Amino acid sequence: MTPVVSLTVEEVRRAVAAARSKGLRIGLVPTMGALHAGHISLIRAARRETGFVVLSLFVNPAQFGPSEDFARYPRPFERDQEVCRAEGVDLVFAPTRETVYPEGFSTWVQVERLQDVLEGASRPGHFQGVCTVVLKLFNMVGPDDAYFGQKDAQQVIVLKRMVRDLNVPVALRVCPTVREADDLALSSRNVYLDPEQRRHAVALSQALRAGRDLVLGGERDAGVVKRALAERIERTPGAALDYAAVVDAESLRPLERLSGKVLLALAVRFGATRLIDNLVLEITAEGASEASL
Ligand code: PAJ
Repeated sequence: MTPVVSLTVEEVRRAVAAARSKGLRIGLVPTMGALHAGHISLIRAARRETGFVVLSLFVNPAQFGPSEDFARYPRPFERDQEVCRAEGVDLVFAPTRETVYPEGFSTWVQVERLQDVLEGASRPGHFQGVCTVVLKLFNMVGPDDAYFGQKDAQQVIVLKRMVRDLNVPVALRVCPTVREADDLALSSRNVYLDPEQRRHAVALSQALRAGRDLVLGGERDAGVVKRALAERIERTPGAALDYAAVVDAESLRPLERLSGKVLLALAVRFGATRLIDNLVLEITAEGASEASL
């Protein structure tokens, strides 16, 4: 059966209240649509852990910069509905722009400092848009658990801080990055790559794995690891490095010596297409291993 599509807050609240009155736990998967296997992994996690799964589908204008791809962002609505049906989503919440940002909208959520580095430095205003829409989705839907991908590591780190600071009664669940056969992280933006760019896009995951292998082999100088990431990208045809970062995975502060939970993160442009990827390592006195957020 095709899942119910709710366009209004009243509809989604009524459906959630009905599910809750049956004693079901509510899971929310926030997305901008163009659903792929990464999104599907979040839906499946939500289905395993909750009894009523809401997928929100809203291409959020507030998180796109003026020269970014809001207008051409893929919107295959029929296909997305088919995916939701096949995956057993209980309710698709597809609010209109006016529902989310009514006339006179003027309240924004900011997570100071964390919002300004890495992705935030390249995309000013991005996390203000993300935090505001996610808090609104939480308030509109009222889930117990919300599912996010580690693919967007900084998004998870910023949202965790928002939830903690504002006592938001939603548990954030983080799912591993889903990858193509050659290890390219799945992204709705991969469709923009031409075949040559697509072939070279594997450089991101290769650079991250090379960085990881240095650390697993005992390297603890963050600068050395960062240079290794950057060099792998710089010798990739058609690739322009936006940033290579080796930072603390909670504070996003740059590190000199590696210890604790560390985020290796990359943003790379292929023509007009900007790709990101990351990897998390846990470093203790005993040694290093790959970890999750
Ligand atoms: P979107 O890019 O559609 O991603 C929705 C969710 O899918 C995010 O939590 C993202 O991290 C996750 N995701 C994307 N690619 C993934 C992959 N390869 N493996 C695992 N998870 C993956 O992120 C957003 O939308 C928006 O910022 C949103 C949170 C919906 C707010 O507008």
